[in-house]
Amino acid sequence: MRKTENQLLVIFGASGDLTARKLVPSLFNLYIAKQLPENFIVLGASRSDMTDDEFRNRVVLESDYLEDKLKDLKEKYIKGFSDKFFYEDLGGSYDTDYSALRKRIEELNSKYGTAGNIIYYLSTPPTLYETIAKNLADVNLTTQNNGWKRLIVEKPFGYSLETARKLNKGLQQYFTEPQIYRIDHYLGKETVQNLLVTRFANSIFEPLWNRNYIKHVEITNAESVGVEKRGGYYDKSGALRDMFQNHLLQIVSLVVMEPPIGDEPEEIRNEKVKALKSLRIMRDEKTLHENTIRGQYVASEVEGELVKGYREEDGVDPNSTTETYAAIKFFVDNWRWKDVPFYVRTAKKMPTKVTEVVIHFKTPHHQIFQDSGVNSKDNKLIIRIQPDEGILMKFGVKVPGQGFKVERANLDFYYSSLAQTHVMEAYERLLLDCMQGDATLYARADEVEAAWEFVDPILKYWKDGKDVRMYGYAAGVWGPENADELIDGVGYWRNPSANLADDSGYCVIC
Ligand code: BG6
Repeated sequence: MRKTENQLLVIFGASGDLTARKLVPSLFNLYIAKQLPENFIVLGASRSDMTDDEFRNRVVLESDYLEDKLKDLKEKYIKGFSDKFFYEDLGGSYDTDYSALRKRIEELNSKYGTAGNIIYYLSTPPTLYETIAKNLADVNLTTQNNGWKRLIVEKPFGYSLETARKLNKGLQQYFTEPQIYRIDHYLGKETVQNLLVTRFANSIFEPLWNRNYIKHVEITNAESVGVEKRGGYYDKSGALRDMFQNHLLQIVSLVVMEPPIGDEPEEIRNEKVKALKSLRIMRDEKTLHENTIRGQYVASEVEGELVKGYREEDGVDPNSTTETYAAIKFFVDNWRWKDVPFYVRTAKKMPTKVTEVVIHFKTPHHQIFQDSGVNSKDNKLIIRIQPDEGILMKFGVKVPGQGFKVERANLDFYYSSLAQTHVMEAYERLLLDCMQGDATLYARADEVEAAWEFVDPILKYWKDGKDVRMYGYAAGVWGPENADELIDGVGYWRNPSANLADDSGYCVIC
């Protein structure tokens, strides 16, 4: 196990939802698992006026997100955790002199022995990232002559290629690239990391992992929720920016990449960047028209209840053209993937919450069993990211009896069968990695920019292109019908159910 050095975590935006909902519960898991270093404290910083005790109550002792975890624990043990939390009020603005913050950090550092090592976690609106980095640098809180300094930034990382480049440049004035950790919580998911292991720790998949054996690749990310309370943010973002540019293209890069030389962070990240750069960028309107579909959910009835349409949601413009559904077909221009289509879709208000990668293999070159019906039963490898995490292989078996009738059978593995293993939550894993200086599962500047390079023309086309349609779909169904046309040439979408082994067609709408 790698060593975690003594350190201080400073969270900007500490009074916000993410701190209480994700960061503190993740730190608590690390505390229980004895993964925190001996000397470790957290300093929350934001514009709210709070004392240390009020902050501890808010994010630990009275937090709804920790209630269950704390229930049966001894008071002394809980106090051992909550005493690690401190709070500093930045006043009315993040754009201010950080001398007082510096003084507080120095006091805490010498009192609690955190060795000058600091992680700054930016959980604020992205417009403040550069400002905060600058203000830290102005009071010498970024220099590494007395302990290391790292900066974690949350998504969205940019709004377009141009803004992402600007943000990268802006941050790199104050922090070096190796100090910057761009978080993408999908990379913290065990099953996403397992894509690397499935591919590169087995000898049975990689020889087939190419255009000679793979017909097409399908990736689905569906959520049953709508935009909930985030209408204001989401309406300016949309499915392509919110999910596809980051989480889904990260998954794509792991499916597409070449084997890295080793498991060093830069080896893996270099291959991911190369993979993203090999995605064929769609530039002309005809290609964009034929290969991209966007949709928006409209009001419907799900399980007997009326469900609002997207345009009726709080914070959403009643004439909004922001997509809640995006399906993209694209190709990868390299030796391995030439002519293999990729179909990737993401959406809200789907029949169920599910994320999976399906590798569709080609039909055997020569058909021996003429009446087998095997054509429609090609092999599939389904890598389930969530829920019911696991891997499912679909293959042909002989139906008992005369002749050679072929039926499809399942070979499956479920993570839940590894009962002994504690599966870390995404933020827990990513925080620990950053604490240990391991950037493998964080996005590098060039990676983020390569992803934007692919997405930018689609966004531009959807915004200004001619004849761009926004298709409606009833909340609770698998998106607009037109999305079926996109995949028509190779088959149909595998509309998965919550259970990995159940076959398609699941739908809760009544
Ligand atoms: C976030 C998006 O990054 O990921 C949300 O902003 C989305 O809109 C969420 O709901 C999905 O994450 P998960 O881990 O629940 O699949």
